[in-house]
Amino acid sequence: MVDLSTSFCAIEVKNPIGVTSCDFGGNERLLRRCVEQGIGWIIGKTVHQIDGPHRWPRPYFYSLKRFGKELGDAFVCSQMFHNMPYERWRDDELPRCLETCRVHNVLFIGSCSGIGADADTWIPFLKDMEAAGVRMVELDTGGPHATFGAVNAQKEVGAPLAMDPKTAYQVTKACVEAVNIPIMFKMTPQCVNMAGVAMAVERAGAAAISANNSFYGCWIDHETGTFFGVPASMGGLMGRPWQLFSLAKVMEITATVHIPVLGGGGTFTYDDCVRYLMAGCGLAGLCSSLYSRGVEVLRRCIDGLSDYMDRKGYHRIQDFQGCVVKDFQYLRDWRRENPMAETTPIIPEFDADRCDQCGVCARVCPYGALSLDKTNDSVPRLNREYCCGCGWCVGHCRPHAIRCVHAETGEVVWNGFGTIADWIKTA
Ligand SMILES: Cc1cc2nc3c(=O)[nH]c(=O)nc-3n(C[C@H](O)[C@H](O)[C@H](O)COP(=O)(O)O)c2cc1C
Repeated sequence: MVDLSTSFCAIEVKNPIGVTSCDFGGNERLLRRCVEQGIGWIIGKTVHQIDGPHRWPRPYFYSLKRFGKELGDAFVCSQMFHNMPYERWRDDELPRCLETCRVHNVLFIGSCSGIGADADTWIPFLKDMEAAGVRMVELDTGGPHATFGAVNAQKEVGAPLAMDPKTAYQVTKACVEAVNIPIMFKMTPQCVNMAGVAMAVERAGAAAISANNSFYGCWIDHETGTFFGVPASMGGLMGRPWQLFSLAKVMEITATVHIPVLGGGGTFTYDDCVRYLMAGCGLAGLCSSLYSRGVEVLRRCIDGLSDYMDRKGYHRIQDFQGCVVKDFQYLRDWRRENPMAETTPIIPEFDADRCDQCGVCARVCPYGALSLDKTNDSVPRLNREYCCGCGWCVGHCRPHAIRCVHAETGEVVWNGFGTIADWIKTA
């Protein structure tokens, strides 16, 4: 029997899967839909008192489905901060959200935004939420929509806060000192120096970091010759492939600081959640997948996580949480062939019993190093002169009939699973 319960900033949660800030945490009716799926936590929609980002263009979701199946889950989104008047949210909606979360044993995390590093524009929300019984607050310092959607005078709202370590430090410190509940800082993927911002936020006393907010994007309808949806750059890089980028940014954080991290971005399946947990995150969040797949995606992730742990013999989240962090490195630190030999010492090896002669490897080899004559060959032929030892064929072979080996010793370097072997014995 696996135990999904865990803790985040010393707060117990029944499982690590939840919903990051969006409509679903904006009112009790939508929140309930998620809570009933069995989630461990949910973040409220960002509240604020800034003119501009609460007035969204309607319609505000523009699905890219019809532009190709690769874009099936992608959309441009011109929705911004909460559009409900703050006082109504605080006095009416928040208590009802908290009560529903209490009944279902779900952690509710508040989310707010002020203007730039002006502490007075942040602290009232924190105090109100603390007084209402909110146990933790996320600073929405990462919103691309807010940056571009706020009126000109307030363009320091959103992502600019999370791109500069100095500003991030100021905002966080002021908020941390104002209340006694844990403060979580939300990252923007627009930040190049994410490790630097993470260190600044840790130094300022943040209890946790969440990563990442959405990237911005825009789309052009080639049939009409006009922008698709809004004629502007907005939250837009949605969909599962976006996880690659977000995960890399999360690794920059977890490999650098020692405070808890809430990870998300392109999270659609249970294994996506596992990846964020293995990357050192304490919680794994979903957002846009609820929109493109329905709220049931949450239940599937929770059940999938439980089955996965059972299958792997993990009893608790901590059995695998952060397991890859110690191995993270920047490519500049990778041991290299010196000089890089013209004839590759690493070549593909074919398993005749598994190969079904589909010819995909020969078709996709960028270097034209593989050929297959189905009448004479049982496996593809290798042109050693052209082969670069790149491993592309390994990843494309559906029956797993190819692996990369060391040409001289036959030692396996990569079989298409996990990390390539460090085959260079001398630097
Ligand atoms: C419709 C929608 C509304 C969002 N609203 C907010 C918001 O109010 N505050 C915030 O911090 N992030 C907001 N986000 C960003 C998400 O919380 C999340 O960080 C981002 O979408 C990346 O995760 P995903 O790839 O799982 O969607 C919103 C995202 C979407 C799709």
